[in-house]
Amino acid sequence: MDTIRVGVVGLGQGRSHLRAFQFLEGSRVVAVCDQNQPLAARVAQEMEVERVYTDIGDLLADREVDLVVVATPDHLHGPHAIQSLEAGKHVLSEIPMATTLDECKRIVALTDRTGLKYQMGNQVRYAFCLRDAQRLIVGGDLGEIFYGEGEYLHDMADIVSHRKADHWRIHPQTPQTTLLGGGPHAIDTLRWLMGVRFVEAQAYHAQQQSPWQTTHTTVAIFKADNGGVAKVTVSYGMVRPYCLYYGVYGSQGSFERSRDQGGATQETTNYFYHSKLAGASRMIPVTVPNWNNPQIARRHALGHGTMEIEQAQRFLAAIREDREPDIGPREAARSIAAGICALQSAQQGGGIVAIPTFD
Ligand SMILES: NC(=O)c1ccc[n+]([C@@H]2O[C@H](COP(=O)([O-])OP(=O)(O)OC[C@H]3O[C@@H](n4cnc5c(N)ncnc54)[C@H](O)[C@@H]3O)[C@@H](O)[C@H]2O)c1
Repeated sequence: MDTIRVGVVGLGQGRSHLRAFQFLEGSRVVAVCDQNQPLAARVAQEMEVERVYTDIGDLLADREVDLVVVATPDHLHGPHAIQSLEAGKHVLSEIPMATTLDECKRIVALTDRTGLKYQMGNQVRYAFCLRDAQRLIVGGDLGEIFYGEGEYLHDMADIVSHRKADHWRIHPQTPQTTLLGGGPHAIDTLRWLMGVRFVEAQAYHAQQQSPWQTTHTTVAIFKADNGGVAKVTVSYGMVRPYCLYYGVYGSQGSFERSRDQGGATQETTNYFYHSKLAGASRMIPVTVPNWNNPQIARRHALGHGTMEIEQAQRFLAAIREDREPDIGPREAARSIAAGICALQSAQQGGGIVAIPTFD
């Protein structure tokens, strides 16, 4: 296949993906789209992109676009991914895949029917600090996994305090939810680390008011298909530095990430314990680069370090080699359905909700 031609819709976080595809050999960003015309024109000029659209329909009619990056507000990802697949484009979508089970099912069915590639972009699966741990855990080093914890702790005041009242993240009709906003970074990454699917969800929202329209803290419990249990906490209101925490516990050992993490380019500490160390009074600390892959030149690091670059590279390879993307439609749907079902549980006061399997 010749160069894969990319169009990016939504030019906030979309700019990170734009730079990633522009940086990589074998792809070229040929079009950008944002309903904010001055923003779209400015980004196109700065990033030397040929064509500018304000309506996704016009971008999708562009025959020179092979792959669409969907980076619009959360509630538009499902409709925009469906429209893009229907127009014959491959899709890399920001989290969440969609905000309804029906949209998730339609995306799975469309990729089955068309053979087009879809990936949900949870770049945290490409965080350098997690790759060795995941290989070790899924390779069986910690034995049978029976418990996991995932946390997305992000005081969103920095993101929402300067927004106008009608911004989608805080708009009463489209508020960003905990488990589908930052939540996929906790749920999808934890599922990947544990090597399981979640089959039942139960959750509670903290009832206190937040300064904006979103529920600020949710705790969810998931039953896993291997008989294990997982706990996920997502908080936009915790007064602490940003943190993506994971802990995984097996019959032979344990893995815990530090909660004191630093930024993308800093180092972080992971902790391991194994039954072979029986009696040792401390976990074994392993200091590793945090988000950035040190093999990718620092000058190319984007907003989230080098994670979007590796994600884009892997997705391009999946298209070229006609293989399942790392977070393909079913894998994405299993994580997002877990979030949707847990939100349903929290909204109804905490009952058990079965999660569809997407087999
Ligand atoms: N993976 C991550 O770590 C990460 C980080 C930040 C944001 N995100 C996700 O990226 C998405 C965008 O978030 P953001 O912070 O960039 O928001 P944003 O509000 O800054 O940007 C969204 C852009 O989409 C444009 N837009 C809205 N509706 C549109 C439409 N119908 N057609 C074309 N353009 C449209 C808006 O004009 C805006 O420029 C969200 O889903 C968010 O959750 C993910």
